[in-house]
Amino acid sequence: MKLWGGRFTKETNELVNNFNASISFDQKFFKEDIEGSIAHVTMLAKQGILTDTDKKAIIDGLTGIKEDIINGTLAIDDNAEDIHSFVEATLIERIGEAGKRLHTGRSRNDQVALDMKLYTRNQIKEIDSLLKELLTVLLKIMEENIDTFMPGFTHLQKAQPVTLAHHTGAYFEMFKRDRLRLKDIYNRMNYCPLGSGALAGTTYPLDREYTASLLDFYGATDNSMDSVADRDYLIELLSAMSTIMMHLSRFSEEIILWNSNEYRFIELDDAYSTGSSIMPQKKNPDIAELVRGKTGRVYGALMSLLTTMKGLPLAYNKDMQEDKELTFDAIDTVKGCIALFTGMIKTTKFNKKNMEESAKHGFTNATDAADYLVNKGVPFRDAHGIIGQLVLYCIEQNKPLDDISIDEYKAISPVFEDDIYEAIAIKTCVEKRLTKGAPSETAMKAAIKACHEYLDKE
Ligand code: ARG
Repeated sequence: MKLWGGRFTKETNELVNNFNASISFDQKFFKEDIEGSIAHVTMLAKQGILTDTDKKAIIDGLTGIKEDIINGTLAIDDNAEDIHSFVEATLIERIGEAGKRLHTGRSRNDQVALDMKLYTRNQIKEIDSLLKELLTVLLKIMEENIDTFMPGFTHLQKAQPVTLAHHTGAYFEMFKRDRLRLKDIYNRMNYCPLGSGALAGTTYPLDREYTASLLDFYGATDNSMDSVADRDYLIELLSAMSTIMMHLSRFSEEIILWNSNEYRFIELDDAYSTGSSIMPQKKNPDIAELVRGKTGRVYGALMSLLTTMKGLPLAYNKDMQEDKELTFDAIDTVKGCIALFTGMIKTTKFNKKNMEESAKHGFTNATDAADYLVNKGVPFRDAHGIIGQLVLYCIEQNKPLDDISIDEYKAISPVFEDDIYEAIAIKTCVEKRLTKGAPSETAMKAAIKACHEYLDKE
């Protein structure tokens, strides 16, 4: 059944029907559509626009439709134009006259704006709890690796020693910010557009605030034209999801590097890696690669919706129907990626010995060696030069700074004494970094405590 046949004398072209229809994707929010309709008729009856008898018949009918779709006894008709038409037509089929009163004081423009908000609002909560789960796993890794030394990198060159707890803590901060962004978006979007009609409100005495409260919104939206034309919250959500993917992708890139034969920092669990059809020795980090790869399609969704919206005059335009498939795809992609990444990182084994060896062999303690000379009275610029010569010598000898003799040290500068070894031990280098946010055990324990407090309250 079409909701708008009256004005037309010819059948719609078959291709136009297919091109125009959204049922293949908007059936995803059939529950939200029904939930919104129930709130709408409850409000209509309270305002005396609908009788209580009609209200009851409609609510019973809608509840039955929802249950039957869920339990599989009612199939959604692929030939319907959209989920709104399908639900309304089925309702009329089932309860007759009363069903024809459902759409009083409503347009599909405010209806779809509502459905999409209800759907994405739930999805924001789901993404948030997946992120919380990931943060819990990261925090556990932090707690277990306060003394797992590893090289910290700049320019992907070994720079200064850090710990795995510290490195993981950086990602904790990123995903924490992602959750904050989701919360902000939720708070901004959580106003109900229903009752805005096609664009100019309606002549019925609707109580929009009441409908909003029934649906757990903070209130009703302020301008009816904006209500049906606003897709800002989806753009914000796609942007926040793009940032989540960017974070996951950076972490994935590190997992891929750390899993390579050159690094051997980690061993991925068999359940989270795959093999090669030709090379028997291979254990590939496909999950991390796919997460990195799928980042592109979420960015694409953001660019796509921004582009769709940029030339649209007020108020509703059919272009906006394009907001759905790409947002649904991005949401499903992000949820899948967070869940899989969490499983992968949770089961990853960290090769602590290799990490520490790598820190030792990359001259990550060179800054500390220079600081040692400074503490003995050498000006920093001279100390920098002396350690530079020493590093050159070590490269020739193929030895880390820790492994050359005191005579070799003294040959370059007489200031060196036996306590140099203690001063440049990786453990010392980390332990001396006591400032807030640095990797020493003391600073890290304080950071971990703060992370726990955050997870307990958010
Ligand atoms: N399928 C449409 C959408 O997603 C529903 C709103 C239709 N409104 C209209 N005036 N044709 O935007």
